[in-house]
Amino acid sequence: MKKIPTIPRIRVLKNRKNILKNPLPFHRENFEKYGDTFRIDLGKGSKWVFTRNPESIKYILQKNHKNYHKSKLQTEDLAKYIGKGLLTSNGDFWRVHRRMIQPAFHKKKLEGLLGIMHQAIEKELAEIKPNAECDIFPLMGDLAFQVVAQSLFSSEAIRPKMRALKEITVRNQKMLIKEMRLPYFKWWFQLSGAINRHLEESKEATKILDGIIQERIDSSKEKDDLLDMLLSARYEDGTPMPRQQLIDEVMILFTAGHETTANALSFALFLLAKNPENQKRVLQEAMGLDFESGDYMQLLGQLQYTKQCIEEAMRLYPPAYFMDRVSLEDDTIDGNDFKKGTVWLMNLYELHRHPAFWKQPETFRPERFDPLDKKDYSDCYFPFGAGPRMCIGNNFAMYEMMMTVALLVKKYRISSSLNSVILNPLITLKPEGVPLKFVPR
Ligand code: HEM
Repeated sequence: MKKIPTIPRIRVLKNRKNILKNPLPFHRENFEKYGDTFRIDLGKGSKWVFTRNPESIKYILQKNHKNYHKSKLQTEDLAKYIGKGLLTSNGDFWRVHRRMIQPAFHKKKLEGLLGIMHQAIEKELAEIKPNAECDIFPLMGDLAFQVVAQSLFSSEAIRPKMRALKEITVRNQKMLIKEMRLPYFKWWFQLSGAINRHLEESKEATKILDGIIQERIDSSKEKDDLLDMLLSARYEDGTPMPRQQLIDEVMILFTAGHETTANALSFALFLLAKNPENQKRVLQEAMGLDFESGDYMQLLGQLQYTKQCIEEAMRLYPPAYFMDRVSLEDDTIDGNDFKKGTVWLMNLYELHRHPAFWKQPETFRPERFDPLDKKDYSDCYFPFGAGPRMCIGNNFAMYEMMMTVALLVKKYRISSSLNSVILNPLITLKPEGVPLKFVPR
């Protein structure tokens, strides 16, 4: 087996300004020059390995997942703002809660949420001002947040509280990014009270959610929404989740479920705006569908091409563009030995554009996901991750995105004066702004 090359620290230092702004071109260069897996020497015996090798990624996430935990950034650092739950925990704590929450996301349960989802989407889409170009990204952010909010709480009355909650989530994420990108200033963030101010905001978010949950319990009404499902979930000994745990899991569903979806939707709409032929095919599919009929599963079943467009958008712009894991024990991958504590950074953006696996990798070609083509990409396409920690909300997100795209294309011809979106890779891969024009059909 070939020895894995190491990128010298000096190369990282030389490129640090560009890396801080957007690390993706630096990684593309490295993959092209050094191959699918390389180490970066960051000093003090650091063991960072970057890979776009699909076999190694599957091995880490699936085959030997027990030997790999999420990093401190994804657990402790994030948990201090959003709580310790599904997204931010490891080991038995994670396993127990995954088993408990999983049933709420089964397709049968989701079917019952599609009406709520549809209403929330229509309400947000009504905000679109036709015939003038406007940035769709904030609107998709509101839409995705409200869809999670309504699926959880199915109540219009909570809208103002949700707005406050969203603002807190956004501000706290900005703080976390600062901590992540400027680790040598962490002492200052502590000393200046910035971190504490944000922790206070998190307490405020907890209070908002606690109030909503208490109201539900007091009302003793059954709603059949996600909150009801979480309230009735039980540990193996038959006990329910403690209140703080419930709040943390709700907060996590908001965090994990809204930004990723907003990013994917914005990229998908932009790609359709720039590819009128593909947009036409989405229109043909959506044209005859009556969303007021309420038979959502049947409707979604007819949106095969729309689904392919979204899949292709997430291939080109995977919202979770990097996934990390840290090894608990020494391991051998692809014939190379790695010490325990090795940090693996799996680059999905590069895997999804790897010329060995994708024809015309930089081109938007939804046809490649045509199920009749019989080409199976499941070995090199992981927008929702893989293995036991695969996204719990993948079906939820797909239904939401298919519905949104179909409703929009049915109503408007979408265009954009922008040639390509500027990427803003933070915790997720965001677009810098997506100016779109919606002309009523
Ligand atoms: C386009 C939209 C979405 C994308 C691309 C996405 C992507 C992902 C990925 C890649 C992971 C795995 C991360 C890892 O293993 O390190 C993940 C986990 C997770 N996602 Fe999503 N997600 C999306 C939407 C949602 C939605 C709508 C929800 C909930 C309403 C959600 C809830 C979660 C949770 C709770 C986890 C942690 C699961 C666990 O570790 O057991 N996601 N997501």
